[in-house]
Amino acid sequence: MTRHLLRDDDLSPTEQREVLELALELRADRYKVQPFVGPKAVAIIFDKHSTRTRVSFSAGVAELGGYPLVLDTGTSQMGRGESVADTARVLERQVSAIVWRTYGQRLIEEMAAHSSVPVINALTDSFHPCQILADLAAVADARGGVGALAGLDLAYVGDGANNMAQSYLLGGATAGLHVRIGTPDGYLPDAEVVAKAEQIAESTGGSVTVTHSADDAVSGADIIATDTWVSMGDEAQKAEREAAFSPYQVNARSLELAAPGAHVLHCLPAYRGKEITASVLDGEQSLVWLEAEYRLHAQKAVLSWLVER
Ligand code: CP
Ligand code: NVA
Repeated sequence: MTRHLLRDDDLSPTEQREVLELALELRADRYKVQPFVGPKAVAIIFDKHSTRTRVSFSAGVAELGGYPLVLDTGTSQMGRGESVADTARVLERQVSAIVWRTYGQRLIEEMAAHSSVPVINALTDSFHPCQILADLAAVADARGGVGALAGLDLAYVGDGANNMAQSYLLGGATAGLHVRIGTPDGYLPDAEVVAKAEQIAESTGGSVTVTHSADDAVSGADIIATDTWVSMGDEAQKAEREAAFSPYQVNARSLELAAPGAHVLHCLPAYRGKEITASVLDGEQSLVWLEAEYRLHAQKAVLSWLVER
């Protein structure tokens, strides 16, 4: 059966560990695996803006021996109403994998339902699983290996209902992390996602906490993560979001409350002075540039893992 990565819990704890181990190996030896020699093509489709995802998947597919075929929905027939199912039926005959950044989770599920080649979620409104693999790999690299992840406390403060928060819940629980979400009323993660994360955490030794207190979330945390307060598609609510999230800014005080030597994550793009201060983002506890580099290694790892299933 074709395996896909549509949400973080599509990988079991053992499978996630295999992908993360390979990501670290690929950082040390970039051309170690070559599943797309031929070259075989991988379709990489964007319905939303992107810098990191576009570059890292393009470079990554090339480094895996393949040909990255980057499409913007607006200039393809999808932009004129061709169905997701028909698009999948055409692509699966020509490419070895489909990577898609889109809006609703239901859309990428529909693509996968009609595709005999792996479909990878490159961000939907609900999840950003490639980013969480990169984040976990970067933390593992900085802390002595994948074995160091389980048991760490990860605090995510900011928009608790967005794709990053929900992926930290599922992907973090899978890695055995204690995931704490600090977010205001009205921005809670989906109840189904929290329940699934709790269920996963029971088997991995992790845990899940959702709180309205930013201080409670970050106190003693080994990792502090945040994300933009205004995700793609939320632009009309910019003013009300900035007002609601301002007590959840990651700043010098957050680091004082966190564990000594805590690491800071941000998927980027960052808005300095909004969700995170410049001194923290650009400070010595920040892992963000290694995290951005790991988009390449982690996505190469998950692509080769999926096509070899
Ligand atoms: N973090 C991330 O996905 O960045 P892009 O939007 O630039 O791809
Ligand atoms: N939550 C952000 C992530 C950007 C990479 C968004 O969806 O816009």
